[in-house]
Amino acid sequence: MKPKLVIGNWKMNKTFEEADDLIIEISDLLEGLTLQTGVVLCPPNLYLELTTDHAEENEFSAGAQNCCEFSNGAYTGEISAEMLAAIGVEFCILGHSERRKYFHESNQSIAGKVNQLLTHGLIPVVCCGEQLEDRKNGTHFNVVEKQITESVFHLTKDQFETIVIAYEPVWAIGTGETATPAQAEEMHVFIRQLIEKKYGTEIAYNAYILYGGSCNAGNALELFAQPNVDGGLIGGASLKAKEFFDIIEAAETVLKDN
Ligand code: PGA
Repeated sequence: MKPKLVIGNWKMNKTFEEADDLIIEISDLLEGLTLQTGVVLCPPNLYLELTTDHAEENEFSAGAQNCCEFSNGAYTGEISAEMLAAIGVEFCILGHSERRKYFHESNQSIAGKVNQLLTHGLIPVVCCGEQLEDRKNGTHFNVVEKQITESVFHLTKDQFETIVIAYEPVWAIGTGETATPAQAEEMHVFIRQLIEKKYGTEIAYNAYILYGGSCNAGNALELFAQPNVDGGLIGGASLKAKEFFDIIEAAETVLKDN
C-alpha cells in the first residue's frame, strides 16, 4: 500500500486569529513526528501565507481551495496559479461540489484551472462526485466518468501523474452521512479503471484517489483501509486540531498494518 494523503479543506471558516491558533495547534501535534502520510492544509486564501510560513518547519504543505482559470490580468477578485506558486503554495483543490453549485463551475473551467496550476508547478486536487438523485437513479458512475473525462483527460501522461483526484459524493458532504467503505471502494476502483484505460496500469496504480464526505476520526480507519482509498479530503473534521490529527494517525496506522 502506498502512503496516504490527508488534506484539510477549511472552506470559508476561521478568523485570522483562529486560523493562526489552529495552524499552531496542528503544528504542535505534528512536532517531532516523521510521517509517511502527506498532510496538506487548505485555509481561505487570506491565511495561505501564514500557512506556508509554518509549513516550512512542519510536516505539512499549504493548499488553496480554488484558483483562476486565466493566467493574469483584468479578472477582479480572482487569484492566479502564479500568485499561489510565488508564496509557496503546493496544492490547490479544484471543482469542489460547492464551487460547482454556488459558482457554476463547469468541467471545462476546471480543465482550464488544472492547466494553470500545472503550468506553475502546483498539484491540482480535482474533485468529482455524484448527487443523491444520481445514485438513486443508478447514474453515479456515468456522472463521475463525465466529470473526470472532461476535466482531466486532456492531460498528457506526464501531466496526469502529478494530479490528485478526490471522490466526494455530494450527498455525503457536510451531512454526517458518509459513503460506506464499500461504496467508496467501489467508486475508487471504477475511477482507477478509467485512468487505466486512458493512461495505462502503472499510472493508474500510482494515482492518488482520495475520499471526501463526512470523513472523521471515527470512520477514517475503515475508509483508509480500503485498498483503493489513498487518503481523505476532510472538511468539518479538519477544523479541530485533535480530530484532524487523529485522522492523520488513522492513515499512519493503516500503512503500518499493510
Ligand atoms: P465534510 O466536507 O468532511 O465536512 O463532509 C468534505 C469536503 O467538502 O471536502
